[in-house]
Amino acid sequence: MAELSGTKVIVIGGASGVGFAVAAAALAGGAEVVVGSSQAPRIQAAAEKLGHGATGRTVDVKDEGSVAAFFDVAGRFDHLVFTAGDWGHMFGPTRELDIDASKARMEVRFWGAARVAKHAMRHIASAGSITLTGGMLAHRPMRGAPLVTASANTTEGLAMGLARDLAPVRVNAVCLGLIMSEQVLAMGDAAISSFTVNLPLPRGGTVEEAAEAYLYLMRATYVTGQIVRVDGGGSLV
Ligand SMILES: NC(=O)c1ccc[n+]([C@@H]2O[C@H](COP(=O)([O-])OP(=O)(O)OC[C@H]3O[C@@H](n4cnc5c(N)ncnc54)[C@H](OP(=O)(O)O)[C@@H]3O)[C@@H](O)[C@H]2O)c1
Repeated sequence: MAELSGTKVIVIGGASGVGFAVAAAALAGGAEVVVGSSQAPRIQAAAEKLGHGATGRTVDVKDEGSVAAFFDVAGRFDHLVFTAGDWGHMFGPTRELDIDASKARMEVRFWGAARVAKHAMRHIASAGSITLTGGMLAHRPMRGAPLVTASANTTEGLAMGLARDLAPVRVNAVCLGLIMSEQVLAMGDAAISSFTVNLPLPRGGTVEEAAEAYLYLMRATYVTGQIVRVDGGGSLV
């Protein structure tokens, strides 16, 4: 496996949750880290908390000009991790769906990832990697969430398509089960256990456990177009 020491890693969505944990793990592995997200106070606070070797910069992945400018300033780098995501709007019975709000939600998770991949390619090392983020609802649809399943599948499809198109840059995705980020903790214990009680590993994952998969995909120099599940065995039940 390749070492991260001496590499430059960019984490879009690194202000919090899984992205922050990936940034911390990459730093611990000896990488220089740039974290990006849309809210300046949040990303600056994250960079300060990460400490020496980390820089925070704002980027709004809904805005292609913002994405292009972010990568122009970042310059040459080795690995890109995309964990940016917004929440809400896509849950609800099909006959009550707010279609426009649901379309808007694709702006960060899907179109944001596509914008980032496009502009990252101007600066990424040919031996580098891109890792996107999907969710287990892609494979375990539930009532009241058909568009969440569709959206999560677009991420995996994008990763596989990019892996062919951008080679030799490697492109993969991590498929997350319930991971105890700040957003998930805010759901409360009852809602959390309703998702985790029947899992082979009956608990939510930690953000550090999720980060391991991103670190693996950065280092795994013969792996591309793959989806790595971090879901407590959720795909088995
Ligand atoms: N946690 C889970 O259980 C779980 C399960 C399945 C999938 N996922 C997916 O995994 C990803 C990470 O989850 P998480 O729990 O770590 O979420 P999180 O803590 O909310 O992290 C999402 C990050 O995206 C950034 N962001 C939001 N809008 C942005 C924009 N327009 N441009 C740039 N950055 C933006 C946010 O920072 P700013 O507010 O500063 O922009 C935040 O740092 C999300 O896409 C989520 O949907 C999570």
